[in-house]
Amino acid sequence: MRLVVTVDNRAKEGLRKEWGWSAYIEAHGYKVLFDGGASTSTLKFNAERLGLNLSHLDFAVLSHHHGDHYGGFRYVGEVAEGLRVYSPPGELEYLRKWGLNPVPVTDPLKVGKGLWLTGPLSGGWILEQALAISTREGLVVVVGCSHPGVHRLVRAARDVSGLDLFLVVGGFHMPSEQVLDELAGMSKKICPTHCSGDKSLKYLRKRYPEKLCEALAGSVLTFS
Ligand SMILES: [Fe+2]
Repeated sequence: MRLVVTVDNRAKEGLRKEWGWSAYIEAHGYKVLFDGGASTSTLKFNAERLGLNLSHLDFAVLSHHHGDHYGGFRYVGEVAEGLRVYSPPGELEYLRKWGLNPVPVTDPLKVGKGLWLTGPLSGGWILEQALAISTREGLVVVVGCSHPGVHRLVRAARDVSGLDLFLVVGGFHMPSEQVLDELAGMSKKICPTHCSGDKSLKYLRKRYPEKLCEALAGSVLTFS
């Protein structure tokens, strides 16, 4: 399995950064895009630079209906017309207008061999879901912005898959130290990106340096 960070607030040299989040995942024979970043231009530029062909995706996952996660799907619709996008329920018409096939997810769902969706959890007004992938090392959980709380999304991922956690990656939405402690208790590796905030990065660097993995656009995480 490999996960390539396609869009993030930070980027490796030669790639574009923006306030947004997107990851390209190859696992169990599937090619999946998790979120699309904020804009068509950044996703297109970075995917091309990274040699990723988004017209070959099997499906996509939208974590929640916020522009910094769905904006780039307009580009995905151009190169992968009719692609299934597992989305939290809500206004799905914009995805249809972009040529995509939104599939509302209301409950935890197995989307393929070794791939699960937590189903939408509510975080205030926002419904948000996470993607869980089985690896030999344990469960890899990909989150968007963690409005419902990253610890809650991770627990839901563990429940739907029945597997113990290996790694969690994505936006953690400025979690408290208690939430980070709980996460560290559940996960061997922690990769905060996007909206996680400098404070959580500093805390993890100090408190759990052995668990912290720093990822930004262009980072590639590989698992067996
Ligand atoms: Fe976000």
